[in-house]
Amino acid sequence: MRVESTVGLCFAGFGNVGQGLARILVRKERELAERWGLNCRTVAVVTRTRGAAVSRDGLSLAELLARAERGEQLGTDRITPVEAALLPQTDVVLDVTPTNLKTGEPGLSVTRAALGSGRSVVTSNKGPVSLALEELRELARERGACFRFEGSVMSGTPSLNLAMESLAGCDISHVQGIVNGTTNYILTRMEEGCEYGEALAEAQEKGYAEADPSGDVDGWDAAVKAQILASVVLGSPISLDAVDRTGISSITRSDVEAAASRGRRIKLIARAARTAGGVSASVSPTEIPLAHPLAGVGGATNALTFTTDNLRDVTIIGPGAGREETGQALLSDLIAVA
Ligand code: HSE
Repeated sequence: MRVESTVGLCFAGFGNVGQGLARILVRKERELAERWGLNCRTVAVVTRTRGAAVSRDGLSLAELLARAERGEQLGTDRITPVEAALLPQTDVVLDVTPTNLKTGEPGLSVTRAALGSGRSVVTSNKGPVSLALEELRELARERGACFRFEGSVMSGTPSLNLAMESLAGCDISHVQGIVNGTTNYILTRMEEGCEYGEALAEAQEKGYAEADPSGDVDGWDAAVKAQILASVVLGSPISLDAVDRTGISSITRSDVEAAASRGRRIKLIARAARTAGGVSASVSPTEIPLAHPLAGVGGATNALTFTTDNLRDVTIIGPGAGREETGQALLSDLIAVA
Protein backbone atom coordinates (compact mmCIF):
# COMPACT_ATOMS: atom_id res chain seq x y z
CA MET A 1 0.00 0.00 0.00
CA ARG A 2 1.40 3.38 -0.92
CA VAL A 3 1.35 6.02 1.81
CA GLU A 4 0.41 9.37 0.31
CA SER A 5 1.98 12.44 1.84
CA THR A 6 2.45 16.03 0.81
CA VAL A 7 5.92 17.55 0.56
CA GLY A 8 6.26 21.19 1.63
CA LEU A 9 8.54 22.99 -0.81
CA CYS A 10 10.56 26.15 -0.33
CA PHE A 11 11.98 27.66 -3.53
CA ALA A 12 15.16 29.62 -2.79
CA GLY A 13 15.28 31.56 -6.07
CA PHE A 14 12.78 31.55 -8.92
CA GLY A 15 14.78 32.27 -12.06
CA ASN A 16 15.17 30.09 -15.16
CA VAL A 17 15.61 26.81 -13.31
CA GLY A 18 13.07 27.42 -10.55
CA GLN A 19 10.48 28.40 -13.12
CA GLY A 20 11.42 25.40 -15.27
CA LEU A 21 10.70 23.06 -12.36
CA ALA A 22 7.52 24.96 -11.47
CA ARG A 23 6.23 24.57 -15.02
CA ILE A 24 6.71 20.82 -14.89
CA LEU A 25 5.07 20.59 -11.44
CA VAL A 26 2.03 22.50 -12.74
CA ARG A 27 1.78 20.66 -16.05
CA LYS A 28 2.18 17.17 -14.57
CA GLU A 29 0.60 17.65 -11.16
CA ARG A 30 -1.85 14.77 -11.54
CA GLU A 31 0.59 12.34 -13.13
CA LEU A 32 3.22 13.09 -10.49
CA ALA A 33 0.72 12.30 -7.76
CA GLU A 34 -0.80 9.22 -9.39
CA ARG A 35 2.27 7.61 -10.89
CA TRP A 36 5.09 8.86 -8.69
CA GLY A 37 3.31 9.51 -5.38
CA LEU A 38 4.60 13.08 -5.40
CA ASN A 39 2.19 15.63 -3.93
CA CYS A 40 3.73 19.06 -3.39
CA ARG A 41 2.66 22.12 -1.50
CA THR A 42 4.69 25.25 -2.22
CA VAL A 43 5.15 26.96 1.11
CA ALA A 44 7.55 29.74 0.15
CA VAL A 45 9.23 31.32 -2.84
CA VAL A 46 11.99 33.78 -2.01
CA THR A 47 13.88 35.80 -4.60
CA ARG A 48 16.53 38.51 -4.50
CA THR A 49 14.89 40.89 -6.96
CA ARG A 50 11.23 39.92 -7.21
CA GLY A 51 10.16 39.71 -3.60
CA ALA A 52 8.93 36.74 -1.60
CA ALA A 53 5.66 34.91 -1.12
CA VAL A 54 4.78 32.63 1.79
CA SER A 55 1.67 30.59 2.56
CA ARG A 56 1.48 27.71 5.00
CA ASP A 57 -1.56 26.43 3.07
CA GLY A 58 0.26 26.48 -0.26
CA LEU A 59 0.95 29.00 -3.00
CA SER A 60 -0.31 28.61 -6.56
CA LEU A 61 2.71 27.89 -8.75
CA ALA A 62 0.65 28.70 -11.85
CA GLU A 63 -0.05 32.16 -10.45
CA LEU A 64 3.59 32.69 -9.46
CA LEU A 65 4.69 31.69 -12.97
CA ALA A 66 2.21 34.10 -14.52
CA ARG A 67 3.54 36.91 -12.30
CA ALA A 68 7.14 36.05 -13.16
CA GLU A 69 6.31 36.07 -16.88
CA ARG A 70 4.66 39.50 -16.54
CA GLY A 71 7.77 40.74 -14.72
CA GLU A 72 5.75 41.41 -11.56
CA GLN A 73 6.73 40.97 -7.92
CA LEU A 74 5.96 37.47 -6.68
CA GLY A 75 4.85 38.71 -3.28
CA THR A 76 5.48 41.23 -0.56
CA ASP A 77 6.29 38.94 2.37
CA ARG A 78 9.38 39.97 4.28
CA ILE A 79 11.37 36.81 4.81
CA THR A 80 14.93 35.72 4.11
CA PRO A 81 15.69 32.49 2.23
CA VAL A 82 17.10 30.95 5.44
CA GLU A 83 13.95 31.86 7.38
CA ALA A 84 11.80 30.39 4.61
CA ALA A 85 13.89 27.20 4.62
CA LEU A 86 13.24 26.83 8.35
CA LEU A 87 9.46 27.37 8.26
CA PRO A 88 7.72 24.46 10.02
CA GLN A 89 5.85 23.62 6.79
CA THR A 90 9.05 23.33 4.70
CA ASP A 91 10.19 19.75 4.12
CA VAL A 92 12.45 20.19 1.08
CA VAL A 93 14.40 23.26 0.03
CA LEU A 94 15.00 23.75 -3.68
CA ASP A 95 18.17 25.81 -3.96
CA VAL A 96 17.85 27.40 -7.37
CA THR A 97 19.75 30.56 -6.52
CA PRO A 98 22.43 31.64 -9.02
CA THR A 99 25.80 29.90 -8.82
CA ASN A 100 28.54 31.83 -7.07
CA LEU A 101 31.76 29.82 -7.24
CA LYS A 102 33.66 32.13 -4.87
CA THR A 103 31.31 32.27 -1.87
CA GLY A 104 28.59 29.74 -2.71
CA GLU A 105 26.10 32.33 -1.46
CA PRO A 106 23.22 32.72 -1.02
CA GLY A 107 22.71 29.00 -1.64
CA LEU A 108 25.37 27.78 0.80
CA SER A 109 23.80 29.43 3.87
CA VAL A 110 20.34 28.20 2.90
CA THR A 111 21.63 24.67 2.33
CA ARG A 112 23.56 24.60 5.61
CA ALA A 113 20.54 25.88 7.54
CA ALA A 114 18.12 23.45 5.91
CA LEU A 115 20.31 20.35 6.26
CA GLY A 116 21.29 21.38 9.79
CA SER A 117 17.61 21.35 10.73
CA GLY A 118 17.03 17.93 9.14
CA ARG A 119 15.31 19.28 6.03
CA SER A 120 16.40 17.90 2.68
CA VAL A 121 17.93 20.02 -0.08
CA VAL A 122 17.71 19.49 -3.82
CA THR A 123 19.83 21.77 -5.92
CA SER A 124 21.23 22.63 -9.32
CA ASN A 125 23.53 25.23 -7.77
CA LYS A 126 27.17 24.33 -8.33
CA GLY A 127 28.60 26.82 -5.80
CA PRO A 128 27.78 24.96 -2.58
CA VAL A 129 28.65 21.60 -4.17
CA SER A 130 32.03 22.93 -5.31
CA LEU A 131 32.91 24.66 -2.04
CA ALA A 132 31.43 22.44 0.66
CA LEU A 133 30.44 19.04 -0.71
CA GLU A 134 31.96 16.95 2.08
CA GLU A 135 30.62 19.23 4.83
CA LEU A 136 27.10 19.23 3.36
CA ARG A 137 27.05 15.47 2.82
CA GLU A 138 28.21 14.92 6.40
CA LEU A 139 25.60 17.36 7.72
CA ALA A 140 22.88 15.54 5.76
CA ARG A 141 24.08 12.17 7.11
CA GLU A 142 24.15 13.42 10.70
CA ARG A 143 20.66 14.91 10.52
CA GLY A 144 19.04 12.15 8.48
CA ALA A 145 18.36 14.50 5.57
CA CYS A 146 19.05 14.15 1.84
CA PHE A 147 21.36 16.38 -0.16
CA ARG A 148 20.93 15.75 -3.89
CA PHE A 149 22.47 17.75 -6.71
CA GLU A 150 21.90 15.88 -9.99
CA GLY A 151 21.17 19.19 -11.75
CA SER A 152 24.69 20.48 -11.13
CA VAL A 153 26.04 18.37 -14.05
CA MET A 154 24.32 17.82 -17.45
CA SER A 155 21.00 19.32 -16.26
CA GLY A 156 18.31 16.61 -16.24
CA THR A 157 20.34 14.07 -18.21
CA PRO A 158 21.36 11.48 -15.62
CA SER A 159 25.05 11.77 -14.80
CA LEU A 160 25.83 11.87 -11.08
CA ASN A 161 22.96 9.64 -10.00
CA LEU A 162 23.70 7.39 -12.98
CA ALA A 163 27.26 6.96 -11.75
CA MET A 164 26.41 6.68 -8.05
CA GLU A 165 23.25 4.59 -8.29
CA SER A 166 22.92 2.79 -11.63
CA LEU A 167 26.67 2.12 -11.93
CA ALA A 168 27.01 1.19 -8.25
CA GLY A 169 29.69 -1.48 -7.87
CA CYS A 170 31.60 -0.38 -10.97
CA ASP A 171 35.03 1.10 -10.54
CA ILE A 172 35.02 4.26 -12.66
CA SER A 173 38.53 5.33 -13.59
CA HIS A 174 37.93 8.07 -16.14
CA VAL A 175 35.14 10.45 -17.15
CA GLN A 176 35.30 12.58 -20.27
CA GLY A 177 32.92 14.60 -22.36
CA ILE A 178 31.07 17.81 -23.13
CA VAL A 179 29.51 19.27 -19.99
CA ASN A 180 28.74 22.89 -20.84
CA GLY A 181 25.69 23.56 -23.01
CA THR A 182 26.38 27.24 -23.65
CA THR A 183 29.86 26.80 -25.12
CA ASN A 184 28.82 23.78 -27.15
CA TYR A 185 25.91 25.81 -28.51
CA ILE A 186 28.22 28.74 -29.35
CA LEU A 187 30.78 26.50 -31.09
CA THR A 188 28.01 24.78 -33.08
CA ARG A 189 26.47 28.11 -34.16
CA MET A 190 29.91 29.53 -35.09
CA GLU A 191 30.47 26.56 -37.36
CA GLU A 192 27.11 27.39 -38.97
CA GLY A 193 28.39 30.90 -39.71
CA CYS A 194 27.15 32.83 -36.69
CA GLU A 195 29.32 35.43 -34.94
CA TYR A 196 30.47 34.69 -31.38
CA GLY A 197 28.45 37.53 -29.78
CA GLU A 198 25.28 36.61 -31.63
CA ALA A 199 25.63 32.94 -30.64
CA LEU A 200 26.18 33.89 -26.99
CA ALA A 201 23.10 36.13 -27.03
CA GLU A 202 21.05 33.22 -28.40
CA ALA A 203 22.36 30.92 -25.65
CA GLN A 204 21.37 33.51 -23.04
CA GLU A 205 17.93 33.93 -24.56
CA LYS A 206 17.36 30.18 -24.49
CA GLY A 207 18.21 30.05 -20.78
CA TYR A 208 21.42 28.02 -21.20
CA ALA A 209 23.96 30.55 -19.96
CA GLU A 210 24.87 31.30 -16.36
CA ALA A 211 23.67 34.62 -14.89
CA ASP A 212 27.23 35.81 -15.64
CA PRO A 213 28.06 34.09 -18.95
CA SER A 214 31.81 34.50 -18.43
CA GLY A 215 31.35 31.49 -16.15
CA ASP A 216 30.55 29.50 -19.29
CA VAL A 217 32.90 30.92 -21.91
CA ASP A 218 35.93 31.11 -19.61
CA GLY A 219 35.48 27.44 -18.76
CA TRP A 220 34.58 27.87 -15.07
CA ASP A 221 31.26 26.06 -15.42
CA ALA A 222 32.86 23.08 -17.16
CA ALA A 223 35.73 23.15 -14.66
CA VAL A 224 33.41 23.00 -11.67
CA LYS A 225 31.58 20.09 -13.29
CA ALA A 226 34.92 18.30 -13.81
CA GLN A 227 35.66 18.99 -10.12
CA ILE A 228 32.26 17.56 -9.09
CA LEU A 229 32.78 14.50 -11.30
CA ALA A 230 36.24 13.92 -9.82
CA SER A 231 34.92 14.30 -6.29
CA VAL A 232 31.66 12.37 -6.62
CA VAL A 233 32.20 9.86 -9.39
CA LEU A 234 35.90 9.13 -8.91
CA GLY A 235 35.66 9.59 -5.14
CA SER A 236 38.68 11.92 -4.91
CA PRO A 237 37.71 15.37 -3.66
CA ILE A 238 39.69 18.13 -5.35
CA SER A 239 39.43 21.90 -5.31
CA LEU A 240 38.29 23.94 -8.28
CA ASP A 241 41.79 25.44 -8.46
CA ALA A 242 43.19 21.97 -9.15
CA VAL A 243 41.26 21.76 -12.44
CA ASP A 244 43.43 22.81 -15.37
CA ARG A 245 41.07 25.22 -17.19
CA THR A 246 40.95 26.88 -20.61
CA GLY A 247 37.70 28.31 -21.96
CA ILE A 248 36.56 29.22 -25.46
CA SER A 249 36.75 33.00 -25.27
CA SER A 250 39.84 33.10 -27.48
CA ILE A 251 38.33 30.79 -30.14
CA THR A 252 37.37 32.72 -33.27
CA ARG A 253 35.13 31.84 -36.17
CA SER A 254 38.23 31.39 -38.32
CA ASP A 255 39.61 28.81 -35.82
CA VAL A 256 36.31 26.92 -36.11
CA GLU A 257 36.39 27.13 -39.93
CA ALA A 258 40.07 26.11 -40.09
CA ALA A 259 39.31 23.03 -37.95
CA ALA A 260 36.37 22.20 -40.23
CA SER A 261 38.60 22.45 -43.30
CA ARG A 262 40.84 19.80 -41.70
CA GLY A 263 37.83 17.53 -41.12
CA ARG A 264 37.82 18.35 -37.41
CA ARG A 265 35.59 20.13 -34.92
CA ILE A 266 36.48 22.15 -31.82
CA LYS A 267 34.77 20.98 -28.62
CA LEU A 268 35.27 22.08 -25.03
CA ILE A 269 36.22 18.77 -23.45
CA ALA A 270 36.18 18.14 -19.71
CA ARG A 271 38.11 15.22 -18.24
CA ALA A 272 38.63 13.68 -14.83
CA ALA A 273 40.86 10.66 -14.39
CA ARG A 274 42.36 8.59 -11.62
CA THR A 275 46.13 8.90 -11.42
CA ALA A 276 48.77 7.20 -9.30
CA GLY A 277 48.70 10.22 -6.97
CA GLY A 278 44.91 10.71 -6.81
CA VAL A 279 42.99 12.38 -9.59
CA SER A 280 43.55 14.89 -12.37
CA ALA A 281 40.94 17.09 -14.01
CA SER A 282 40.99 19.50 -16.94
CA VAL A 283 38.88 21.50 -19.36
CA SER A 284 40.18 22.63 -22.72
CA PRO A 285 39.05 23.33 -26.28
CA THR A 286 40.08 20.27 -28.24
CA GLU A 287 40.03 19.53 -31.98
CA ILE A 288 38.45 16.17 -32.58
CA PRO A 289 37.94 14.27 -35.85
CA LEU A 290 34.41 14.38 -37.30
CA ALA A 291 34.21 10.60 -36.92
CA HIS A 292 34.68 10.86 -33.14
CA PRO A 293 31.38 10.24 -31.26
CA LEU A 294 31.63 13.60 -29.44
CA ALA A 295 31.90 15.49 -32.76
CA GLY A 296 28.22 14.84 -33.46
CA VAL A 297 27.09 16.26 -30.13
CA GLY A 298 25.84 19.72 -31.12
CA GLY A 299 23.95 22.66 -29.64
CA ALA A 300 23.27 22.59 -25.91
CA THR A 301 23.49 18.79 -25.87
CA ASN A 302 26.08 17.28 -23.54
CA ALA A 303 27.73 13.86 -23.46
CA LEU A 304 29.77 11.98 -20.89
CA THR A 305 31.66 8.71 -21.18
CA PHE A 306 32.37 6.81 -17.97
CA THR A 307 35.21 4.31 -18.28
CA THR A 308 34.46 1.45 -15.90
CA ASP A 309 35.82 -1.98 -15.02
CA ASN A 310 32.61 -4.01 -15.20
CA LEU A 311 31.02 -2.40 -18.27
CA ARG A 312 33.97 -0.76 -20.05
CA ASP A 313 32.72 2.52 -21.59
CA VAL A 314 29.22 3.81 -20.78
CA THR A 315 28.17 6.96 -22.62
CA ILE A 316 25.17 9.15 -21.91
CA ILE A 317 24.05 11.92 -24.27
CA GLY A 318 21.29 14.44 -23.61
CA PRO A 319 20.37 18.03 -22.85
CA GLY A 320 23.00 19.82 -20.77
CA ALA A 321 21.26 23.10 -20.02
CA GLY A 322 17.88 24.79 -20.18
CA ARG A 323 15.00 25.76 -17.93
CA GLU A 324 12.83 22.65 -17.93
CA GLU A 325 15.81 20.41 -18.70
CA THR A 326 17.38 21.45 -15.39
CA GLY A 327 13.96 21.46 -13.74
CA GLN A 328 13.79 17.75 -14.61
CA ALA A 329 16.99 17.11 -12.61
CA LEU A 330 15.41 18.75 -9.57
CA LEU A 331 12.22 16.80 -10.13
CA SER A 332 13.96 13.42 -10.24
CA ASP A 333 15.85 14.27 -7.04
CA LEU A 334 12.66 15.52 -5.43
CA ILE A 335 10.87 12.27 -6.26
CA ALA A 336 13.84 10.35 -4.80
CA VAL A 337 13.67 12.40 -1.59
CA ALA A 338 9.89 12.19 -1.30
N1 HSE B 1 25.38 27.37 -18.01
C1 HSE B 1 25.33 25.96 -17.91
C2 HSE B 1 25.58 25.34 -19.28
C3 HSE B 1 23.99 25.56 -17.39
O1 HSE B 1 25.54 26.08 -20.26
O2 HSE B 1 25.85 24.16 -19.37
C4 HSE B 1 23.89 24.14 -16.95
O3 HSE B 1 24.76 23.87 -15.88
